[in-house]
Order: sequence, then structure tokens, then C-alpha cells
Amino acid sequence: MSAPRQLSLNAFIYPSGHHEAAWRHPDSRPERIYDVTYYQEIGRTAEAAKLDAVFFADGPALRTDVRHNAAPGLEPITLLTAIAAATTHLGLIATASTTYYEPYNLARLFSSLDHISGGRAGWNIVTTGTDLAAANFGLDRHPDHAERYARAREFVDAVVALWDSWEDDAILLDRAAGIYADPDKIHPIDFVGEHLRVRGPFNAARTPQGHPVLVQAGASNEGRAFAGKYAEAIFTAHQRLSDAQTFYADIKAKAAEYGRDADEVKILPGISPFIADTEAAALRLEREFNELTVPEYGIKQLESITGTSLRALALDEPVPVEVFAGAGDVTDNARSRLQVVAGIVERERPTLRGLLHRLAGARGHRVFAGTPEQVADTIEEWFTQGAADGFNVMPPYYPGGLEVFTETVVPILQERGLFRTEYTGTTLRDHFGLARPRSRFAPEPVTVG
Ligand SMILES: Cc1cc2nc3c(=O)[nH]c(=O)nc-3n(C[C@H](O)[C@H](O)[C@H](O)COP(=O)(O)O)c2cc1C
Repeated sequence: MSAPRQLSLNAFIYPSGHHEAAWRHPDSRPERIYDVTYYQEIGRTAEAAKLDAVFFADGPALRTDVRHNAAPGLEPITLLTAIAAATTHLGLIATASTTYYEPYNLARLFSSLDHISGGRAGWNIVTTGTDLAAANFGLDRHPDHAERYARAREFVDAVVALWDSWEDDAILLDRAAGIYADPDKIHPIDFVGEHLRVRGPFNAARTPQGHPVLVQAGASNEGRAFAGKYAEAIFTAHQRLSDAQTFYADIKAKAAEYGRDADEVKILPGISPFIADTEAAALRLEREFNELTVPEYGIKQLESITGTSLRALALDEPVPVEVFAGAGDVTDNARSRLQVVAGIVERERPTLRGLLHRLAGARGHRVFAGTPEQVADTIEEWFTQGAADGFNVMPPYYPGGLEVFTETVVPILQERGLFRTEYTGTTLRDHFGLARPRSRFAPEPVTVG
């Protein structure tokens, strides 16, 4: 009898916390965001609660308005290597761009992280949402959405082929004969695409996981098709159960179109929980953070999502629905987040200040304030109602916001049999319940009988 289906839970690390005013709250530690021990401690907190992984977002440009908020700062793969040294089972997922990296170099970074961590690496594949990056790489313009995805498909094909280029048993270590490895088991890949050409072979042995877990966070049609073909785990942002159910069913169907099993794709929406002993106290905590926001910062964020100037709007007047009516004619990569905002305005008719507070929590991801039981209930509902295979937990503030989640909500989920009480494996694939892929160059396994 197969084991009961259980949640996957990641801690999405954002230096001071996901709330845009987290760094101003006394419970956060903004002075430590360049201190590696801070992240190692967060890693140990996540591992002690048996979480699947920690995850870092990334973008090769300064897009945070640092006048009013802390910028992420440290490069995630480097940081995860340090967290790997401080943990033994915790998965380690970093974001890296297919637009602003070269396949061979990126393949080396993630392969090394997988070797160093004993098989715990994951790569969140993004094409980079911000057009600020282009000028940092000598480009006059940020490639458009379709171009970025065309390159992204070739990029992943080339990287996975590089990771496959050493067969698992290529290394012989035959000291007596003086043979270190069998060159016949190390293959050039000769990848030739429209955007990329990579000869190979790779210059490192196959990793403990076969290759790092492929993660993605696409939301557009192009992004979803990409996810259906490549992603083993998908991060996503939804406010409502019904939207999450639609997305979940769509992605699983797209995976099936590529001949993949639905279980080979894990879908993890984001949730940013304000947790306290009573619902009233949790809502009070959320208000405390919202009152620390700087409207100018929130307005700039919203303008970068919508591409519309909001300067004419009064802070304490309801936001006219038509302001976001143009959800259709913005560049693709903002469309998904813009539709989230347009939906909130249409349904809730907030004032501009109210809308800024709604988005201050987690950049369009779902914010939930309640008791530990209420947080566990809503997680269980989405998990059992076809909306999620797990969650990217996005504490509004660090480190305390993660600690309260792991100390109060995780035990409830464990009691309900929804989440592991012990790790049953050592790799990220074990935690996500994903198979170890075989190298395309390896001989077909012989089936007896
Ligand atoms: C949980 C989550 C994390 C993301 N992290 C990043 C990131 O670190 N860097 C980035 O450039 N984009 C990030 N994105 C944006 C996506 O990569 C993507 O651009 C966006 O979801 C729009 O989808 P599309 O690419 O299909 O248009 C993230 C999205 C989600 C939902």
C-alpha cells in the first residue's frame, strides 16, 4: 500500500521578511542580512522542522527601492553552499536566470552545489522579470517574453544534457591500472540551437541526484507550457482557492500532454502567514506591519507591476477599477501579477492605501492572518482540494516569522498526518518524492522476464 500523500513545505527566505516593511519591525534582524550565520541559523530552524527546502529568489539588477527597503544582497548559490555546510537533509533551491547566464557556467554552479550538499540542490528557472538587468549585461534592451522563453528552452536542454554527459559509473578509480575514469562513459553533447551552442562534455561527474531538481515559476501561457515540459516543482501566486485549483489542473494537464505523470510535477503556491494565539491578535500584528509601510515605496512597486502612473490617485479614496482594466496590454511577464492586483481591486474595491497594504504583505502572494489551527486548516484545504501539493512558506518577518510557523503550525500538520515527522531520505528528490533521472547516455536498464 503506497504511503499517504503528504505536503511539501519550503521556507522562501527573504532577508528581513516578505512584508515590505519587515526591516522596520523590531522582530526582524535587518542588521544581519550580510551575516552568513544568520542564514545558517534559518536553515537549521527549517531542518529541525523537517521542511523540504529553503528557497531564494534572485535577479541580476538592483530593482528594490533601497531608500525604503532592504535589497536581497547576497548571491543565492553561494549562500546555499554555506547553508549546506550547516545542515544535512534540508533541500537548497536557488533562482538563476536563463537570460543572463551561460549554460556551461550555470551547470557547474548547480552541479557543484548538488555534490557539496550530497544531493540537495534545486534550480528555480527564471527568464528574469525585470528589464533593469539588460544594461548590466551590455544589452540595449531586455529580450522580449517570447525570445526569453525560446532561449530558456534551449538553455535547459543544454544544461541537462551537460549533467547527463558523465554516466554514473564513469569514474573507475583504478589506481593499480592507472585508470581514473572511462572516457567512453563521458560524452560530448554537441548542442546546437538557434540561441545557444554547447559542445561539452561536462567537466564534473554526475551528481548524487542525477541532476538538481528543476523548479520554475511561470504563470503566462508560455510559462505554463514551459512548466508542463520541464518543471518538477512549480512555485505560483494565488489569492483564491478557485484560481489555484484552475492553475493546478491546467499544469497537471500540460504535463500529461508531454507524457509526464502528474506526480512528477509538484505545485507549491506561496502563503505568507501572520500567526498569533487569537485571530484578532494575528490581524493586529498584520496591521502593525502595514502601518510601517511607506506609501511612496508601495506606489512605486505597484507602478512597476502595472506600468501605469498612480500619482493622480488619492491615498484614502477607492481605486477606480478602470486603472487596472488594461491588464491585457502590459508586457507579458507582469501580466500574471497584474491580474492578481486587478482581481483584488474588482472584488474588494479598496482605497489606494488599502491596496498598498494588501500587496505589502508578499508582492501579490497570499497573505493569511490567523491562529496556528486556522493556518493549518487553510493549508489542509488547498492540499486536499486539488489546489496544491505543498507550499512556499513566506514568513512576513525573519527569523521569528519562520520560528512561529515551525513551532506552532508544523506540529498540527504532523498530528493530522499531513506532514513528515522525520526525513525518510537525504536528497531533495527524496523529500519531493521525485525519481532520480537516468543519464540519456547510460545503456537501457536490462529488464529480466
Ligand atoms: C514564487 C515565485 C518566485 C519567483 N522568483 C523569481 C525570481 O527570483 N526572479 C525572477 O526574475 N522572477 C521570479 N519570479 C517570476 C517568474 O519567474 C515569472 O517571471 C513570473 O511568474 C511571470 O511568469 P511568466 O514568466 O510566465 O510570464 C517568481 C515567481 C514566483 C511565483
